[in-house]
Amino acid sequence: EAKAVFSRELLAWYQAGNRNLPWRKSRDPYRVWVSEIMLQQTRVDTVIPYYLKFMDRFPTVKALAEAPEEDVLKRWEGLGYYSRARNLQAGARQVMELYGGVVPDDTEAVAGLKGVGPYTKGAIMSIAFNRPEPAVDGNVMRVLSRYFCLEDDIAKPSTRTGIEKLAVSLIPEGAAGDFNQALMELGALVCTPKSPGCLTCPVMSHCAGRIAGKENELPVKTKAKPP
Ligand code: ADE
Repeated sequence: EAKAVFSRELLAWYQAGNRNLPWRKSRDPYRVWVSEIMLQQTRVDTVIPYYLKFMDRFPTVKALAEAPEEDVLKRWEGLGYYSRARNLQAGARQVMELYGGVVPDDTEAVAGLKGVGPYTKGAIMSIAFNRPEPAVDGNVMRVLSRYFCLEDDIAKPSTRTGIEKLAVSLIPEGAAGDFNQALMELGALVCTPKSPGCLTCPVMSHCAGRIAGKENELPVKTKAKPP
């Protein structure tokens, strides 16, 4: 079946070698959380030095929760979207007050943290706790639209919901964190917005988008109407 082949080949590719990124050295949910917030609107290369300095200054939920807000913003300077930093600190304070400083292995609780949306919730639950939750962002929607030749408009919420269901169904038993990161890795390194990169793609042989000759037309995305 196409889905099983995809999951097996993609996971094997990722496990055979992936980028040695600092947030992949540990499954500490706090570290995963910080990295995913930084990576939301910012490129990996830009994030790395900020992540390292941030972790040095705020190594634990407690350290972040207790810091003066201006110190947190200072370490965020240059990354932009400063509400991310404020929300992250507010989330750390929630974890102190509600969960004794320990990020809970609980989807609903994680989803209730300030600044944690559906994508970040899925990333934390899968990468830190290996829970079979989808972590679907634009990159993952692009990869799955191409591979399964899905022609629905990815700008529509119903398309995202459908892709999240698909993404869950693809997660190999016991490998949620690696599988979700493998999807991100494929989208970042091979199946990029500019080029599908089929020549070096580890899953090209069963890719329905490529087989249909539509790899360059997918994903379908309507532009937001200008105001
Ligand atoms: N982009 C978002 N999350 C990521 C992760 N965990 N690794 C690499 N790139 C990412």
